[in-house]
Amino acid sequence: MRPRRLLLGVVAAAALFALVGALARWRGGPRARIHRAAVAQASCPTGRLAGPVARLLNRANRGMAAETLDAVGDPGDRLLDVGFGGGALMRLALERHSRLRVAGLEPSPEMVSRAQREFADEIAVGRVDVRAGAIEDIPWADGAFSTLVTMNTPYFWRDRGRALAEISRVLGPGGKVLIALPSEEMQRRLGLDAVGHELVDPDELAESMRAAGFERVETATMAVERRRGAVLITARAPYTRRG
Ligand SMILES: C[S@@+](CC[C@H](N)C(=O)[O-])C[C@H]1O[C@@H](n2cnc3c(N)ncnc32)[C@H](O)[C@@H]1O
Repeated sequence: MRPRRLLLGVVAAAALFALVGALARWRGGPRARIHRAAVAQASCPTGRLAGPVARLLNRANRGMAAETLDAVGDPGDRLLDVGFGGGALMRLALERHSRLRVAGLEPSPEMVSRAQREFADEIAVGRVDVRAGAIEDIPWADGAFSTLVTMNTPYFWRDRGRALAEISRVLGPGGKVLIALPSEEMQRRLGLDAVGHELVDPDELAESMRAAGFERVETATMAVERRRGAVLITARAPYTRRG
């Protein structure tokens, strides 16, 4: 064999080994484990990392919270943030609307404890109420809220039909609902599907809302998140209760 061909063969074999090695690390190695752990924290911040994750979420999603609240306009007297994470949107809502009472729902016990400390003064005077739970079973009475917001949560919902029924139940007829989420492409780039979460097409979610009786359902690309491709769904809770 000529030396040049031998050299090419060795280089090709080395490249192949490197590629297979990289793929193995990607599929099951440390990188994949870190990715799984990061998504697990985003889906329910827990343990020692919960504090740093909450601060990270607040920083990363402050702009999205501001734009979501801009779109709310007048929130009425009671707003619920479902899956509030670090609570940035709740804080902003309190600052913007001096008479608004704000509630927060979170499945993560660490996020609930953190919010109880963070909002201790507002909780003492009845302006804030934080509870543990999930969107599929919201622990407040029918018609308890005039506005419901949720950011970056739909791909973590376990049951969309139940979630929409609960949103509708806790809002009075015509109550405002705003759902902010990354585009499906962005969700894919974040690798949510690689760790078992179902990607959510915002248009398809909007369609499910229409089918569930929500009215004035609209989707818009969020200005602040245009580069990352986030979508805001705005709607009104059904005026007539189904079932
Ligand atoms: C990516 S974080 C977003 C936090 C915050 N909304 C924000 O945008 O900064 C997703 C949050 O949704 C919460 N979550 C996960 N599953 C949920 C469910 N079924 N119902 C309500 N919240 C849920 C998680 O605990 C987590 O705090």
